[in-house]
Amino acid sequence: MEGINDDDLTVTAVGATLTTTWLGRSYEYLPWIGSTNDEMKQRAAAGAPHGAVLLADYQAAGRGRLDRRWEAPPGTSLLFSALLRPSGWPAERGGWLTMLAALAVAESIETVGLPARLKWPNDVMLEQDGTWRKVCGLLLDTSLDAAGRLEWAIAGIGLNVNLPAAALPDTMTPATSLLVAGGRPIARRALLAELLARLESHYAAAAAGHSPVPEWSARLLTLGRPVRVARTGTGEPLVGMAEATDEWGHLLVRDSAGQLHTIAAGDVTLRER
Ligand code: BTN
Repeated sequence: MEGINDDDLTVTAVGATLTTTWLGRSYEYLPWIGSTNDEMKQRAAAGAPHGAVLLADYQAAGRGRLDRRWEAPPGTSLLFSALLRPSGWPAERGGWLTMLAALAVAESIETVGLPARLKWPNDVMLEQDGTWRKVCGLLLDTSLDAAGRLEWAIAGIGLNVNLPAAALPDTMTPATSLLVAGGRPIARRALLAELLARLESHYAAAAAGHSPVPEWSARLLTLGRPVRVARTGTGEPLVGMAEATDEWGHLLVRDSAGQLHTIAAGDVTLRER
């Protein structure tokens, strides 16, 4: 089929396509794995280098946030983990890493002509028939050193590229793929190369002390909207208006009594106005 001939994700093909300096220069492709994040954790502990990327065509036990599963049929997605060793970064900056990845994903999607936004904290969304749907999820695993600084972080990216409508997962946040939202198949290798190039350049800016929060926050669909927040650790959901994010990307939600709540983690549902 025209448009997806350029779909080879093996080492030689990806190596010839990458434009990065360090990200993905240690690259491994596996046709099948449990979870790329789980595998990369072991490699991180064994000394894998900053910028290592592990990509699988299929995951039998793909993990999502909040202990959810991440499912995608073979041959349809970009499922990979990037190992970052942000030497000396304080633990609170870990959140920046998912923001950098979210920005890189959104921008790379826009290079194939589809405007992308974000749903707090880090879902990448596309508009389809007037509804925003999730096209990509990000999962960050981190390890801290004895001083409480980031030792390594693994950014796990699951991007629905060529999933047909019938294969989209039935999730609380409705899902889509680039194929379904854009109406044509997308070459996964070129998209991967674009995404890694953008992630490398966002990372370089952040490593130089440039906060990604303003750029990331500007893409959030969530701000200015009524939301319901299922908070991790507490029973009661919070209902209110998402007003802003703070310097770390926490969500600031004002309840009906006028009290402002800072949400560091949780699941946000956008409510109708
Ligand atoms: C979410 O939105 O819940 C996060 C989904 C993250 C899925 C990706 S796929 C590659 C990497 N390996 C995993 O097991 N999960 C992440």
